[in-house]
Amino acid sequence: MELALIYRELSEVEFKVLKALNSLLTRYEYVPLEELEGRVKLPSTHILKALYKLTEFKAVVKHPTMPWFRITYVGLDLTALKKLSEAGVITHLGTRVGVGKESEVYIAKAGNDEIVAVKFYKIGRVSFQKVRRVRHYTIDQTNWMLMSKTAAEREFKILNALNGKTPYVPKAYGMAEHAVVINYIPGVELIRYRDAREPLEILKKILSAVRCAYLCVGVVHGDLSEYNIIVSSTDEVETPYIIDWPQYVYVADPQHEPLLLRDVEYVIKFFKRRYGVYIDVSKALRYVRGLSDEL
Ligand SMILES: Nc1ncnc2c1ncn2[C@@H]1O[C@H](COP(=O)(O)OP(=O)(O)O)[C@@H](O)[C@H]1O
Ligand SMILES: [Mg+2]
Repeated sequence: MELALIYRELSEVEFKVLKALNSLLTRYEYVPLEELEGRVKLPSTHILKALYKLTEFKAVVKHPTMPWFRITYVGLDLTALKKLSEAGVITHLGTRVGVGKESEVYIAKAGNDEIVAVKFYKIGRVSFQKVRRVRHYTIDQTNWMLMSKTAAEREFKILNALNGKTPYVPKAYGMAEHAVVINYIPGVELIRYRDAREPLEILKKILSAVRCAYLCVGVVHGDLSEYNIIVSSTDEVETPYIIDWPQYVYVADPQHEPLLLRDVEYVIKFFKRRYGVYIDVSKALRYVRGLSDEL
């Protein structure tokens, strides 16, 4: 069932139960019923009824043998939506528009009627091996949901820092739990953007954003590729947006060096391969590091 539909089916009691399960996430995998009753402060028949309905919607899972309950990603999505809606960040949730390697992205309407994207982190849904490559910063955490919350916080923080400094990243509107709200970019990923009119200009814009991240904010993206760039095209102009920032590293971290090289090399090679346009990698690195102002 679609997330927006489930959201509309839930009562305040059910949201209260979800909120309590979520707040106990750091202490329990499965929350015992008594603990939940202590938190929610409602008659247990009400709580059980709510749990039954939440289980039907797959927002909660019951332990196979014990009266213990665990919130699922669906439950976390609903909790985040409730918070975002109460804070006035979003007013209406639409359909799912993207699935990444560790997230699901929905289109939504913001308080000011702008169209936004809600990115719900879903770490742990794909194999750990695939994620490990870019997820060095939380490798010792065991709980996927807590990792997803950390990722959302990191992405929100860095987009906020970049906003106003480069036009080539999405604008951040807000966050809650494991969800980040950013402006919706009407376009396609660079990998699926076939016939660029001015490929060299797009590449230069991307490198200018990499430079800005490095010089103005002191960070390296760390997972830059043709999958993490969306190109929005009008009759006049093609604008790239670098998305998907949670694995960023600060330039104070020695790890940033190989990552910066990888990021820069990756996009340059992509443009060479697909469009035959080329910028010298060491020249681009000097530009990004602020050692020269030209590309
Ligand atoms: N702001 C946005 N506007 C439109 N589509 C988006 C936006 N952010 C992400 N998407 C879509 O969702 C997909 C996954 O997003 P991404 O941030 O790369 O997450 P992941 O970490 O899962 O790869 C993207 O490839 C893109 O198709
Ligand atoms: Mg991505």
